[in-house]
Amino acid sequence: MPRAIVEVRDLHKSFTRGSETIDVLQGLTLDVGEGEFLALMGPSGSGKTTLLNLIAGLDRPTAGTISVGENVISDMSESELARWRTRHVGFVFQFYYLLPVLTAYENVELPLLLLPLTKEQRRKQVETALDLVGLTNRMDHRPGQLSGGQQQRVGIARAMVTDPTLIVADEPTGDLDTKSADEILRLMEILRAQLNKTIIMVTHDPKAAARAQRILHLEKGQLVLDTAAVGV
Ligand SMILES: Nc1ncnc2c1ncn2[C@@H]1O[C@H](COP(=O)(O)OP(=O)(O)O)[C@@H](O)[C@H]1O
Ligand SMILES: [Mg+2]
Repeated sequence: MPRAIVEVRDLHKSFTRGSETIDVLQGLTLDVGEGEFLALMGPSGSGKTTLLNLIAGLDRPTAGTISVGENVISDMSESELARWRTRHVGFVFQFYYLLPVLTAYENVELPLLLLPLTKEQRRKQVETALDLVGLTNRMDHRPGQLSGGQQQRVGIARAMVTDPTLIVADEPTGDLDTKSADEILRLMEILRAQLNKTIIMVTHDPKAAARAQRILHLEKGQLVLDTAAVGV
């Protein structure tokens, strides 16, 4: 495996609901290589989203450490984490979460507004991202004027426009038909192969997972299987 860019060590995450404590992650250790495309599978409720959110710095561990690149993100304060996320993580969601009043261009530009860039620098990056996902001719369309597959392509452009260290995708094909899902997976492969992006993708679909280089299976808060994807 290439140099690890994500290092998770003895990770624990518990949630408290009333008097009940749920130990969702129970001592999980894993590495993700730089430029690796990793799929995360497991039954509903097994903690996939919880793990992804911890690695992406959206939530803090109960115990254990997480490093991404040079940064030990499990040591960061909330405000340090927020700043780190802006620069280092691109997010792709199942239901896209595009802002309906903004055009495709403006949705993709959004994460760049948090960075110290000129309008002209932003324009270059947005156009490059929209070109990569094949939506240059739709940049003035609002999400409501786009198909689900096209909206998710805008979602991918938005995730990669900041040139992040890590792209995390939670069920990115979960709401798409087979053909659109295939386009999204092909884009993930392009991001990895051509831009050397590190991608962690949660999916229920074994066919989608098989497009990754490695599949990790979560069950009852533990890593139960770590396999090379077949069929690649
Ligand atoms: N913020 C939260 N508060 C309380 N319980 C949570 C919270 N987030 C997740 N959980 C619980 O943690 C478990 C794992 O959830 P999740 O990571 O979303 O699973 P998956 O993505 O694998 O379906 C579930 O039992 C869920 O109810
Ligand atoms: Mg989930």
